[in-house]
Amino acid sequence: MALSRCFNIEDVRRVAARRLPKGLFNFVDRATEDDLARDRNRQAFRDLTFLPRTLVDVAARSTETELFGKRHAMPLAVAPAGPAGLFWYRGELELAKAAARANVPFTLSTYSTTTMADIAATGATVWQQLYFWKDRALTYGIVDRARELGFGVLVVTVDTAVLGQREYLQRDRLMPPWGPTLASCAEMLLHPQWLAGVALRYLATGGLPRVVNMPQPGQDLTAEEIASRTSLCQSVTWDDIARLRERWPHKLLLKGIMREEEAERAFALGCDGVVVSNHGGRNLDSAASTLDALPRIVAAAGGKGSVLLDSGIRRGSDIAKALALGAHAVLAGRAPLYGVAAGGEAGAYHVLSLLQSELDRTMALTGCRSVAELTRDLIAEGRTETDHGA
Ligand SMILES: Cc1cc2nc3c(=O)[nH]c(=O)nc-3n(C[C@H](O)[C@H](O)[C@H](O)COP(=O)(O)O)c2cc1C
Repeated sequence: MALSRCFNIEDVRRVAARRLPKGLFNFVDRATEDDLARDRNRQAFRDLTFLPRTLVDVAARSTETELFGKRHAMPLAVAPAGPAGLFWYRGELELAKAAARANVPFTLSTYSTTTMADIAATGATVWQQLYFWKDRALTYGIVDRARELGFGVLVVTVDTAVLGQREYLQRDRLMPPWGPTLASCAEMLLHPQWLAGVALRYLATGGLPRVVNMPQPGQDLTAEEIASRTSLCQSVTWDDIARLRERWPHKLLLKGIMREEEAERAFALGCDGVVVSNHGGRNLDSAASTLDALPRIVAAAGGKGSVLLDSGIRRGSDIAKALALGAHAVLAGRAPLYGVAAGGEAGAYHVLSLLQSELDRTMALTGCRSVAELTRDLIAEGRTETDHGA
């Protein structure tokens, strides 16, 4: 199916499923254990409904919004996702180019396979995501490089003390002990577009992508030492965030906040925003949906900083619902990844355009001329006696 025949994110997802070997498609599409949190995120969006405003002149309307001092086409940023380069040749670069073209921020993962400088050269507004590794010097190296390159936002992911239990990756040996299985080799052969356009192209141009923020094995460090130093740190606390606040002079967001008192603490420490996120359901399978967690966090934030949300964005109306419940913006993870897997930059751009036009249509149909008019009284379930709509 050509991109022009993809009328929604689900269509793009289906193209991605056809192009990628099954193990890789599972890597982007699935979550953890029984995928309950992933599905719960979606169900929460499905269950929320609008009471639309009518007889409003919506002829002139705009999805534009300001995020951390910059004007963007819509209240959405591309979420960090390390392995985009496995889905398309230099996939992260393609995603960043699409974000630049669509005028939305692009969040670069700690596990990026593309250098920060190459991503900056796309002209995208780049936000840098940070995981704390056991080795603080290596971790701070990422922060300092982001600062040198003039990135304006650091997004610290705080919900991943350990990785989620992803049994499908174990089965496919897409996590240690890595290695091809008979089934995964057969899958590669059954997906010649991916094999030739991604895997063989890497092999012909210098080898498979590697995580650029990690040092290379050599005289100083063995591969085992590098793996140990760059493993996720399980003892990150608020003290680390306070130290980071001193080191990083620009906007600081905590991603993975689901509790209101933690949002309060983040703002008290000088953070500029929190991302209400359960990592797309990829970590704790019994996590609440982010949409359910959002209203209390918005109330606790009390305007002291920005509240963003991710996990489950597949429609423009999802963005509208998150904003109506008080979020300033959303992040989208899988949707742009489906796009890049389906068609590189063009695929990712198509996804961002679909989301924007769906948001625009939702605004028109709910009587909103600007994203600021997406307010709580539009939500049927949240409406109270005192809501009378603007
Ligand atoms: C393949 C994949 C890789 C991801 N890698 C990272 C990462 O490196 N850092 C991070 O903070 N979140 C990562 N995430 C989580 C996303 O940033 C985001 O929280 C999540 O995808 C949002 O849910 P959605 O996919 O339903 O939009 C990843 C998600 C996916 C699907």
